[in-house]
Amino acid sequence: MSGLKVLALCGSLRAKSTNKALVEYAIANAPEGMQIELADLSELPFYNADLPAKPAAVERLLAQFAKADALLLACPEYNYSIAPALKNALDWVSREPNNELMAGKVAAIMGSGGGMGTSRAQYHLRQVCVFLDLHLVNKPEVFCNAFANTFDAEGKLTDERVQSLIVQQLGALQELALRFKN
Ligand SMILES: Cc1cc2nc3c(=O)[nH]c(=O)nc-3n(C[C@H](O)[C@H](O)[C@H](O)COP(=O)(O)O)c2cc1C
Repeated sequence: MSGLKVLALCGSLRAKSTNKALVEYAIANAPEGMQIELADLSELPFYNADLPAKPAAVERLLAQFAKADALLLACPEYNYSIAPALKNALDWVSREPNNELMAGKVAAIMGSGGGMGTSRAQYHLRQVCVFLDLHLVNKPEVFCNAFANTFDAEGKLTDERVQSLIVQQLGALQELALRFKN
């Protein structure tokens, strides 16, 4: 497939986020024909149906979703579940008519956290994605332990096993997109 546009969302807003580092590795190692762009969620307000107009940060995110063929969701685990920044972004986008900016798109999930590699949060996110009508890559799953010399002093992903999983997962995302296109 040529030109698969992937929008990445990261549920951690901190500058040295290990989840962001997974996305940065994915961006640098995307297969030929795939472009990955990381959305900026830092200015998104909490979803509130009473707001008189969509905030500019929401409009920017919606425009990025409109251009994207696929999603890459970097999912930290907060208290055994999805980090609010990620859920809030999905909630905003889901309010477009008929969920038209997500329904039917393909997506992959990765995450970096404690020893369970954010698996508990990722499975919650998978449940959310059912309602969003996203088609998820099932395997490989990318569960990264952030606290096992997985990142170097600059915060770059150095763990070869996780690096390999990310490359395999991007390949699977590309393949899934191709299948849904036909
Ligand atoms: C509010 C909060 C709750 C957390 N709960 C969990 C948890 O349930 N499981 C886990 O593995 N790590 C948990 N952590 C630790 C995070 O996994 C860790 O801070 C991780 O580095 C966050 O991702 P980041 O590096 O992308 O910011 C929690 C962190 C915070 C701030």
